[in-house]
Amino acid sequence: MLYDVAKVRSLHRCTTCTATSPQWQGRCPACGEWNTLVEEVSSTPSISRASGNAAQSLASISTETCKAKPTGIIELDRVLGGGLTPGSVTLLGGEPGIGKSTLVLQLCQTLAIANMRCLIITGEESVQQVARRAERLHAQAKNVSLLAETDMESVLAAIESEKPDLAVVDSVQTMSAAGLGSTPGTVTQVRECAQALTSMAKASGVAVLLVGHVTKEGSLAGPRVLEHVVDTVLEFEGDRHHELRFLRAAKHRFGATDEVGVFEMTEQGLMSVPDASGLFLDDRRPGVSGSVVVPVVQGRRPVLVELQALVTSSNAPQPRRVAQGLDTGRVALITAVLAKRAGVGLGMSDVYASIVGGIRVDEPGTDLALGLAIMSSHFGRSVPTDLVAVGEVGLGGEIRKVAHLQKRLTEAARMGFRRALVPEGCPTGPAGLQLIHVAMLRDAVKLVEGGAPEDRRARRSG
Ligand code: TYD
Ligand code: MG
Repeated sequence: MLYDVAKVRSLHRCTTCTATSPQWQGRCPACGEWNTLVEEVSSTPSISRASGNAAQSLASISTETCKAKPTGIIELDRVLGGGLTPGSVTLLGGEPGIGKSTLVLQLCQTLAIANMRCLIITGEESVQQVARRAERLHAQAKNVSLLAETDMESVLAAIESEKPDLAVVDSVQTMSAAGLGSTPGTVTQVRECAQALTSMAKASGVAVLLVGHVTKEGSLAGPRVLEHVVDTVLEFEGDRHHELRFLRAAKHRFGATDEVGVFEMTEQGLMSVPDASGLFLDDRRPGVSGSVVVPVVQGRRPVLVELQALVTSSNAPQPRRVAQGLDTGRVALITAVLAKRAGVGLGMSDVYASIVGGIRVDEPGTDLALGLAIMSSHFGRSVPTDLVAVGEVGLGGEIRKVAHLQKRLTEAARMGFRRALVPEGCPTGPAGLQLIHVAMLRDAVKLVEGGAPEDRRARRSG
C-alpha cells in the first residue's frame, strides 16, 4: 500500500523525566510524578523497503512542471511569490471564523475559471453548507467538486481517483486515520494525516491545501506540529471586529516569507486590497491629540497607518502601559526614554497606544511616531494632519535611521502628506514632501509643545 497510516506503534512518555511505558498510567513509574505520561505514536520502521529511486544529474532535472501558477487572487499570489506550485503542500492556519473556508472557496473558483480542477474535502461542514456559501459568493464553478469526508483512507482514495489540480482539506483537525486509534485532532492524528497527504502530493503532483485552526495562544494540537511537514505555512490573521485580514507566509520553500497580503472581508467575500494605506487612514479625524501617521513596511510594501496614544492620570499603584497592534515593551521603553531624555515624566499616568485597523506592526520604525503620539496626548496638542513621522528611538533618546526610508516617504507623498519628521542623515525625500530632521526625541517635544492646541470639537465627535 502506498500510504500506510496504519502501521504504527504507541508508547507513553513522561513529560518530566522522558521515561517510557507501553501503557498509560496515572503516575510515572520512573520519577513518581502524576499525570505526566502522554501518548506518543510513531510509524514502524520499514528500512527494508527500497524505494527504487536512482540519483539523477542536476542538469537533467526539469523544473517546468513545478513552476508556480498564478491563482488569480492578487494578494494570495503576492504572498506565494507568484502562485501555487503543483505538488506543493500548504497549510493555511488561523483562528476559527477568520475566513479560511471563504478564502479557499474563492481560490477554487478562480482556479476553476482558469480551467483547473479542484476538490474540496470538508470535514466540518456539510456539502450543502459549502454550496450555500458558494452561492452567496457567486462562486459556483463547474470544475469544483465537494466531498464531505473525515476518514483519511477515503480522502486519499478520492484524491487519487479525481486527480484534481488542487485538493483542499478543511480542516486537517477533523481528519482521522482508523489505524491510529486516537481521536481526530490529536497531535498523532494530525501529523500522520498530513504526512500521508504530503507523500500523496509529492507522488502525484496534486497541490494540497490544508486548513488548520489555531487558537490565539496557538495551543491547539495541529498546525504547529505540521510546520516541518509542509512546504508552506500561511497565517491568516486579523481582528474579527474589523474587516481587514492579513495573510503572511511563516515558511515558504518556494520563495520569500516577507510579503503580506491584505484582504477586506465584505458581503461578497474576501477582496484583495492592493492599496492598503487609503483604507487604514479612512476614519482618521483631524485635530485630535495623540494621533500620528507613520509609514511602516509590511513585507516589501510601504503602508501608512495611524498610531494613537492616550495618556490619562493613573490611580493604579503601578501605572499601566497598554498596547494594541504594537509591542507593549516598546510603549514602556519609549515612555521611559521620554522621562529620562526629554523631561516628559509619565510616572503618574497610564499610557495606552494602538495601531488603528487591526493590523499588527512589529518594527522599531514606529518609535518616533509613538513618542510623538504620547507627547501629543500628554500635552493635549494635536500633531499637524499633513505630517508623518518615522524613526527608531535609542535608549539615549537619539533618533536612528530605519530601513527603506525612501520607499516609506514616497508612499507618504503619494497619499498627500506634505511634511515628514525623519532622522538626521535621511537623504532628500520625494517632491512635495518637506523633511524635518530630528536628532533627539527632545527636539520632537518642542514641536508638539509649540503645536496647535487640540481641536475640542473634533475630540467630542471622536
Ligand atoms: P469562514 O470562512 O467560515 O471562517 P473559518 O473557515 O476561518 O472558520 O468565515 C467566517 C466569517 O466570515 C463568518 O463570520 C461570516 C464572514 N463572511 C463574510 O463576512 N462574508 C462572506 O461573504 C462570507 C462567506 C463570510
Ligand atoms: Mg472554516
